[in-house]
Amino acid sequence: MKLLVCGGAGFIGSNFIHYFLSAHPDDQLVNFDKLTYAGNLENLKEVADNSRYAFVQGDITDLEHLKKVITEHHITHLINFAAETHVDRSIHGGAKEFVLTNTLGVQMLLDAVRATGVEKFVNVSTDEVYGALTLDSLEKFNEHTPIMPNMPYAAAKAGGDLMCNAYYKCHKVPVIVTHCSNNYGPYQFPEKVIPFFVFKLLKGEKVPVYGDGLNVRDWIHAKDHSRALDLLLQHGLPGEVYNIGVDNERSNMEITKMILEIMGFGEDRIEYVTDRPGHDRRYAIDASKILKLGWKIEYTKEKFRQGLTETIEWYKNNEVWVKNLLQKIENEMNSFQKDLNRSQATMPPENK
Ligand SMILES: NC(=O)c1ccc[n+]([C@@H]2O[C@H](COP(=O)([O-])OP(=O)(O)OC[C@H]3O[C@@H](n4cnc5c(N)ncnc54)[C@H](O)[C@@H]3O)[C@@H](O)[C@H]2O)c1
Repeated sequence: MKLLVCGGAGFIGSNFIHYFLSAHPDDQLVNFDKLTYAGNLENLKEVADNSRYAFVQGDITDLEHLKKVITEHHITHLINFAAETHVDRSIHGGAKEFVLTNTLGVQMLLDAVRATGVEKFVNVSTDEVYGALTLDSLEKFNEHTPIMPNMPYAAAKAGGDLMCNAYYKCHKVPVIVTHCSNNYGPYQFPEKVIPFFVFKLLKGEKVPVYGDGLNVRDWIHAKDHSRALDLLLQHGLPGEVYNIGVDNERSNMEITKMILEIMGFGEDRIEYVTDRPGHDRRYAIDASKILKLGWKIEYTKEKFRQGLTETIEWYKNNEVWVKNLLQKIENEMNSFQKDLNRSQATMPPENK
């Protein structure tokens, strides 16, 4: 396989690249990434000199560049992680970049796949396109749940997903769409809840929790997500949608208390902040379709505490990675805060 990984310098993309290179010693990959504020080549410094890895800086909305890279590197498969991913930015900072990358960018990828004859394209999407479930139901999102996004990030992702469906139906482009739940693990940009809280606590600050903290998400380790995507690259059926989740529903408050406890802090470190507009109450995934395909989960619900502890340890032990990011984050957060014209000096703590 000669794989083009779009958006490989971000959180899940870099976890996937590390996993893929070690799981497939005979395969090669090219990482195509625009390097927005969320892209970080430090995530990949251990593989930078690997002869089976190459990096190309590029934008997925640039069709000609995509076609050139696909042709020059004899790409057979493509996986797309490239996206604008921060929900709060899409609400408060303007949604244009979200539509450009998450919808138009996916359409350009579909055009590139169609023009070059790539054998399979996996478009990584999110459970947020389905909208919200209620706290008191046992309902879960399955692949037939209607798409009903409640915030601009998710609406732009849904636009890309619908394009995939249309290109499969009209042009037989061999595309698969995935809807995964909240990820955790190493290399996550600290505007998202777990690294955000860890960094705040390490700096001696309080952690801000939205509203009543009862919003529920299904947390999956990025390694399990990577294994699921790998399985789909090998055995997934073009034209199909696959939901990915590990049945690990946790409220934001539960996550917060677990982080505090693992790091040895008390609940006095919690600070309640005003809820975000359109904050979906609960997401839950029915993953039976991909489980039937043979996906094996390592970090099950029972192993969540272990996965979270390892993740926190990773941030604590990778001081250089953290240090190098701090200035970048400070600049990013300052400019984002300015855009928001907010008096509050905290970034909102929602994942995704
Ligand atoms: N983080 C989660 O919990 C989660 C859960 C489910 C699905 N997803 C999806 O997984 C994918 C990856 O998420 P993430 O959290 O790793 O994101 P991220 O924000 O950490 O990384 C996104 C990457 O895409 C790159 N990028 C952005 N715009 C680009 C463009 N126009 N062209 C090329 N590269 C571009 C960035 O430089 C960055 O490296 C996204 O599509 C997201 O919707 C994320």
